[in-house]
Amino acid sequence: MSIDQLEEIARAMVAPGKGIIAIDESTATIAKRLASVNVENSEEHRRAYREMLLTTPNLGQHISGAILYDETLRQSTRDGVPFTKVMLDAGIIPGIKVDMGAKPLAGFPGEVVTEGLDGLRDRLAEYAKLGARFAKWRAVIRIAEDAPSGTCIEANCHALARYAALCQEAGIVPMVEPEVLMDGDHDIDVCYDVTEATLRSLFGALYEHNILIEGTILKASMVVSGADCEEQASVDEVAEATIRCLKATVPANLPGIVFLSGGQSDERATAHLDAMNRKGSLPWPLSFSYGRAMQSAALKLWGADMVGNYDKAQETVFHRARDNGLAALGQWSSN
Ligand code: 13P
Repeated sequence: MSIDQLEEIARAMVAPGKGIIAIDESTATIAKRLASVNVENSEEHRRAYREMLLTTPNLGQHISGAILYDETLRQSTRDGVPFTKVMLDAGIIPGIKVDMGAKPLAGFPGEVVTEGLDGLRDRLAEYAKLGARFAKWRAVIRIAEDAPSGTCIEANCHALARYAALCQEAGIVPMVEPEVLMDGDHDIDVCYDVTEATLRSLFGALYEHNILIEGTILKASMVVSGADCEEQASVDEVAEATIRCLKATVPANLPGIVFLSGGQSDERATAHLDAMNRKGSLPWPLSFSYGRAMQSAALKLWGADMVGNYDKAQETVFHRARDNGLAALGQWSSN
């Protein structure tokens, strides 16, 4: 895989009006999602649920790629068509979550560092053979009284850079995700400072590790008020602060930025993206890589009646993709 091909994949991931659907929940996380709609966490239920999402009619109109979990990358539809083939036929680029989750950072109570570097070279080679063209690694930065520490930010960004280098060596586009969590009662200014410090550290580490920025996608969290903060920033304040923070930290040669939804409501996640894209010209396309904000309505419908609500659930997936695709162009309207 040449450098040009990495750049081409990265650009296709953020093609105008298109974004990513994140369906890469680990088995432990999908267990929670299925439990929330009283569905047993069996392999067949996980497969059937992901089939419903991935076979949504016309999904490729607004979705450029989907992030899968290891198990899902190997699964097929009920009729035996590999999910990767379904995706390629729909013009959706297969992606894969490759981190092994956030684990306690020794010596720093309450803070975590993402693991998964050991053996990653071999796993990436296999994922490339299975059809994955991009890979995601999520670092988790928690805001609290004395957190995050500089050590936590640095350890996570160092791991992100090492994973990104291994991805590019394997011809896979890294989607680097340093998520600053919304949990806490901090205000938006604190979130700004932590996000800025994290992104500075991240791009410093990517530079140190010889990462080709043109073949990398950033998956960012928005600059928002803590979920328990009494004073919640408006949509416009979030859009303004997030863009200011990204402009201060992200190189202009990055092909694109996609956001996670992080627990925002469906409508809020769309409104924030739309507001950012209405703010005039930016160095990079801003799009979405939502998990919950793409799936939650469909999960409820499908969980309530897997057969009877199948079509309706797929319609909501399509509508969420369409709305977020419009927001990626700054053309969404709430009615
Ligand atoms: P949410 O949009 O639900 O935050 O999920 C995106 C994701 O992939 C988190 O790693």
